[in-house]
Amino acid sequence: MSTNSKTFAHKKPSVYIKTYGCQMNKLDSELSIGFLLKRGYTFAEDENDADVILLNTCSVRDKAEHKVYSQLGSLRDQKEKNPELILGVLGCMAQNEGDKIFKRMPHVNLVCGTRMFSKLPELLEGINGTNKRILAIGEDGEVNFDRLVTQRQNRYNAFVSIMRGCDNYCSYCIVPYVRGREFSRPDADIIDEVKSLADDGCKEVTLLGQNVNSYGKGLSGNVTLATLLRKLDSIEGIERIRFVTSHPKDMTKEIIEAVGELPKVCEYLHMPAQSGSDKILKKMRRQYTSAHYRELVEMAKSLAPDIKIASDFIVGFPGETEEDFEDTVNLMKDVRYQNCFIFKYSPRTGTAATEFPDDVGEETKKRRNHILLDLQKKISTEENRKMVGKSVEVLVEGTSKSDAGRLSGRTRQNQIVVFGLPEGSNQSNVSSSLPGKLAKIDIVDSTDLTLFGVIN
Ligand code: SAH
Ligand code: SF4
Ligand code: F3S
Repeated sequence: MSTNSKTFAHKKPSVYIKTYGCQMNKLDSELSIGFLLKRGYTFAEDENDADVILLNTCSVRDKAEHKVYSQLGSLRDQKEKNPELILGVLGCMAQNEGDKIFKRMPHVNLVCGTRMFSKLPELLEGINGTNKRILAIGEDGEVNFDRLVTQRQNRYNAFVSIMRGCDNYCSYCIVPYVRGREFSRPDADIIDEVKSLADDGCKEVTLLGQNVNSYGKGLSGNVTLATLLRKLDSIEGIERIRFVTSHPKDMTKEIIEAVGELPKVCEYLHMPAQSGSDKILKKMRRQYTSAHYRELVEMAKSLAPDIKIASDFIVGFPGETEEDFEDTVNLMKDVRYQNCFIFKYSPRTGTAATEFPDDVGEETKKRRNHILLDLQKKISTEENRKMVGKSVEVLVEGTSKSDAGRLSGRTRQNQIVVFGLPEGSNQSNVSSSLPGKLAKIDIVDSTDLTLFGVIN
């Protein structure tokens, strides 16, 4: 029997969780904390106060995995000082690396994959007081979507998972291997969850999936993202609905019409192009051409005139010539995105693209990365400048991170707005009553990333 005073029968340990990677990981962390809180665990705000430290990890690029290994390395001292500390690795890298993590990091107790996190309470109970090491990377673990609606990072916004996994197998991407087969969640469950979030004061939901445009595959009846959006739009209390990520190959006119017509669905699409070159798109197995992508953008701009579009791009994919890269530059110039995430290609073991030599040198990848970053910054600056003098609807989130004297929120198009109150208004009253409300803000200034305004 353990002599550990923190044995579960006496006091549940406090858990600190650090999240890497995409929004699905952020949501998985929230769900995990929810499972643990339900079982009596407490949540530590600071890792130094925690009895359990969990890292929820990402494998999408080599650098993402390096970051976690280096963080684990720096936790070694903490574990030496406090041998009862439980250290766990969750998520995509746990799934991808498995017991390699144990071999490289002897002080890690738990490796828990992407389909096992609802078992976290039992897994931690198995380790507590024993310093055992548990590897839980089964692929048949049942994913439990039951959430504590109160457990979310922001009071007024929530992520809602509508699907998990991915069946697309883009040739560079590790996600289908670490997250498993695509699976759509029944729409009735999603509607129930959004209703209970609304009852808890949530105003904005972001529907999440690796490819939300193929939502409904495998469900009975004619369920699609468009039909789901129509049902969610009528839920009282919810003011805004967003969805990410859109795959161009599954984008439909019905989805774009829903964005244009439904009052709560925001005019914002995150629709990654990845490249503007048809040769590279084919090697990436993206299943669309640059011309088709441009048609979708045109359709979106005509059916939802206020729409803003965001994208991801990979530079330096195997075989990418200067000409291919120019095609990407031209696509970026023509679409005039609101914002873009640009990545240097990173070969992932086990993916199809590793059959091609990684033949674009690091210097070229860096140069292309900078060219796209600079171009996007110029476009964002120019587009935001056009907003000066206009009045926009903002969902107020709270005090601005960069200026405690001002508030911040987002437009329907997902632009960040920082704003002050008119002179003479009672700053502290308004600062506490406005968050969670929609406000009209007159834009008076802008940068590439932020709009600045005053409340109307
Ligand atoms: N499901 C989303 C993307 C998920 S991964 C979609 O299909 O759009 C997020 C982004 O990481 C991708 O859009 C891609 O731009 C980038 N990415 C994925 N694998 C990569 C790799 N091996 N090297 C560099 N970037 C990669
Ligand atoms: Fe990866 Fe492609 Fe799936 Fe996105 S759609 S997660 S890029 S395989
Ligand atoms: Fe997301 Fe990274 Fe996993 S991008 S799905 S956390 S590999």
